[in-house]
Amino acid sequence: MSHHTTVAGELSAAPADPTSPAPAVRPIDIVAGYARQAAASLHTVEFDPVSRWYRRLHAADDHEVWLLSWLPGQGTGLHDHGGSSGAFTVVAGTLHERSLIATPRGRGAARERLLVPGATRAFGQGYIHQVTNTGTEPAVSVHVYAPRLTAMTIFESDAGVLGRPGTGPLTRLRVERSGEDW
Ligand SMILES: [Fe+2]
Repeated sequence: MSHHTTVAGELSAAPADPTSPAPAVRPIDIVAGYARQAAASLHTVEFDPVSRWYRRLHAADDHEVWLLSWLPGQGTGLHDHGGSSGAFTVVAGTLHERSLIATPRGRGAARERLLVPGATRAFGQGYIHQVTNTGTEPAVSVHVYAPRLTAMTIFESDAGVLGRPGTGPLTRLRVERSGEDW
């Protein structure tokens, strides 16, 4: 398994609420350990053809860890992570990620990447992405958020598509609670 970590944004960004302490845990520091555990227990991962399957592996006051599975074709909408920073590691299969760099004017320029087992993406607050299993094999990934994910905004998915950088503005579709989509 190759180990390749890429980072988006400032990982130690100040919390949205300046009166709350910054999380003691940085997702990028602990995601690899959970990914190793998940790789050793892949037989416990389930796959749901109707709705993407997920299991919370750990919840603490200042962070949480989720195990997700993705059948070919399954994916998320274009979303942010509220006030959380995060990191995720692909454990099995291949995931395609499209990320947006939002500017102060609300426009996004897209990047796309294929994430193979061992690949980690780490991101700070304000990161917007869409993750899809575009491969032919089931995929598994581990996701860490700090602080805990509470709500996330879902955006119109064709905003800032590759080849049309700067097209926008981002259209907010809805806000979802943790556990529904990420
Ligand atoms: Fe996400």
